[in-house]
Amino acid sequence: MKKIIIANWKCNPSTIQEAKKLYKGIKKAAIKTKKTEVLIAAPFIWLPLLKNVKKCAQNCFWEEKGPYTGEIGPKMLKDVGIDYVIIGHSERRDKFNETDEMINKKIKAALNAGLTVILCIGENKGENAQEVIRRQLKEDLKDIENCKLKIENLIIAYEPVWAISTNGGEICSPEHAKDILGFIKQKFVGKIIYGGSVNNEIINNYLNVGYEGVLVGGASLIADEFVNLINNVEN
Ligand code: PGA
Repeated sequence: MKKIIIANWKCNPSTIQEAKKLYKGIKKAAIKTKKTEVLIAAPFIWLPLLKNVKKCAQNCFWEEKGPYTGEIGPKMLKDVGIDYVIIGHSERRDKFNETDEMINKKIKAALNAGLTVILCIGENKGENAQEVIRRQLKEDLKDIENCKLKIENLIIAYEPVWAISTNGGEICSPEHAKDILGFIKQKFVGKIIYGGSVNNEIINNYLNVGYEGVLVGGASLIADEFVNLINNVEN
């Protein structure tokens, strides 16, 4: 099965010139993959710059349309050729107060609009990982069996919040990552990927214990680093 690499650009870069330059730097490697599926999760307004690659939104709203100033509905994404959306990233949970209930509504709306969802889950520093993940999976995925798209269109990204580079970037041990992978697998049968300070030096720690891909933040903003990462997984 193909491995998946998702570049999460977050709120970067800050100019269109830089966004074009970054895309130019990774485009060739991202397009010609054989064993890897590469998705670019760019800010909404940079997504149209990305040609011939799989485009991923970093968030969406739970309503299709209506009086919700500032929001973007999942059907709008699908309509302009975006097939993937990240939902429940820890930065959305922490900085924008997204609750499991809101995340559940977003997942259902996205699946009903025909999008594949990358659901991010993971514990904060000091929290019991299994307890948090049990709760997030239960509440975030509540009643999704009634959605138009099914479990095949859902990817879980395990991202321990303390391992994200901008939160200190403590390296998650392969043992912890493996334990949690086993735990998630007891409850979820689809694709599970890992995120948190992933770069070329440590990516294999996670692929070797069974993760089917990675979600890459900081290292996806450096074109050469990201290209090496793609080539590493391809070869
Ligand atoms: P990082 O970000 O690779 O910079 O740790 C990952 C993420 O937050 O998705």
